[in-house]
Amino acid sequence: MRLVLLGPPGVGKGTQAARLAARFGVLHISTGDILREAISSDSPLGREARGYVESGRLVPDATVLRITEERLSRPDAASRWLLDGFPRTVAQAEALDEMLARRDEGLSTVLWLHAATEAIVERLSGRRTCAECGTLYHVRLLPPRREGRCDRCGEALLVREDDRPEAVRRRLVTYEDATAAVVDYYRGRIRKRLHEIDGNGAPEEVGEEIARIVGGL
Ligand code: AP5
Repeated sequence: MRLVLLGPPGVGKGTQAARLAARFGVLHISTGDILREAISSDSPLGREARGYVESGRLVPDATVLRITEERLSRPDAASRWLLDGFPRTVAQAEALDEMLARRDEGLSTVLWLHAATEAIVERLSGRRTCAECGTLYHVRLLPPRREGRCDRCGEALLVREDDRPEAVRRRLVTYEDATAAVVDYYRGRIRKRLHEIDGNGAPEEVGEEIARIVGGL
């Protein structure tokens, strides 16, 4: 099971990826999470990526390809994985195809999640993330039981730096400029394995639609 989850910022990729990991046992690989961890530990990768991530611009392809290839080469990524937030440019999609061809593998399916821009902006403006375990919340749509604290581990909930309005605007433009073309790339190559999913519904509803597709693989 080798899956790609595509979609604009805030559409619910991380939320659905966590559900898929729990339900189907796929390894959730998020380039955004890898970059944020590197930034918070102030590693050389983090120092290189910080300016891009916090202002809502894409990290250069060469850097993202290096970290994705490294992550996919580890033993736990031998067979069942889900890429969340990668590929984000046509160059990244081509490089992923080459990477998989070298391993004599291919993608099982590409899930393309989309939602109305108003829903996306609302989701991003209220998102909170657990500083410790990464669980996602929303102040109104998916609130924690205790305000500002994670239900799972009790740690503080944070607002992501790139959820500030200016960075959100730039991320949405970047998606249209660079990432929407990745959908066309897959449409041209693996049309039957590209699934378009309406992400406007509640997380459970969207999750059931995705599970139906993945369960049929
Ligand atoms: P990344 O971390 O990948 O961010 P993103 O794609 O902008 O997506 P988000 O994490 O913001 O949103 P999401 O779709 O996961 O939504 P979520 O589930 O959290 O990338 C961040 C940055 O890293 C990039 O801008 C770039 O700088 C860099 N980067 C990463 N990958 C890169 C790459 N390949 N190349 C170059 N640069 C790269 O949900 C959002 C909120 O909505 C939450 O509060 C959630 O609770 C709520 N919610 C979710 N689903 C629903 C629903 N159905 N109904 C109601 N609320 C919902």
